[in-house]
Amino acid sequence: MAVFASGEGSNLQALLDRFNHEDHSPARVELVVGSRPGIGALERAASAGVPTMVWSPAEPALLLQRLEADAIDLVVLAGWLRLVPPAVVHRYQARMINIHPALLPAFGGAGMYGARVHEAVLAAGVRVSGATVHFVDDEYDSGRILAQWPVPVLRSDTPAELAARVLQAEHRILPAVVDSLARGEDPAIASWLPSYP
Ligand code: GAR
Repeated sequence: MAVFASGEGSNLQALLDRFNHEDHSPARVELVVGSRPGIGALERAASAGVPTMVWSPAEPALLLQRLEADAIDLVVLAGWLRLVPPAVVHRYQARMINIHPALLPAFGGAGMYGARVHEAVLAAGVRVSGATVHFVDDEYDSGRILAQWPVPVLRSDTPAELAARVLQAEHRILPAVVDSLARGEDPAIASWLPSYP
């Protein structure tokens, strides 16, 4: 897989930890694409010995060229804050997934990323948030939902505290969905919910 990231890269790290240490893993991170130099995700990739690329929207064709040259089967957007060029979306239809830090279709769409999502969740007063993994299409956060994991919203939460709780769920659900896809299973029919009494 190729992982696209724009920031800290903790979701990338969860994928590296799960897949890049064992020869018999069903999947492997083969390329990390960063939206700008110097971000944590690129450092994490370098530490793991995974090739990296910094991609600028000014050069749309270079992205698909690199993915094809590296024979990438699956693209994972893990904290990626840009639209993906339509040619890449079409080439990787049903083979490109995104993780979003809320329960879509609520709190998604253009401008809803990172801390803004959690600020909106707290402002709305909802009691449950969570993580969503979905296929990517031409718009922000609108492709078919594959898996969701609920997380409680506490009355005392700051956006940072809620973000940290949701990230823990993200780090579990994202590798699980990748594992399902790599094994040719449909992650939508797997049961992701933690058991409740
Ligand atoms: C994650 O919470 C991810 O869900 C979110 O950015 C964060 C990246 O963290 N993505 C979006 O908001 C996309 N709409 P990370 O760099 O530590 O993985």
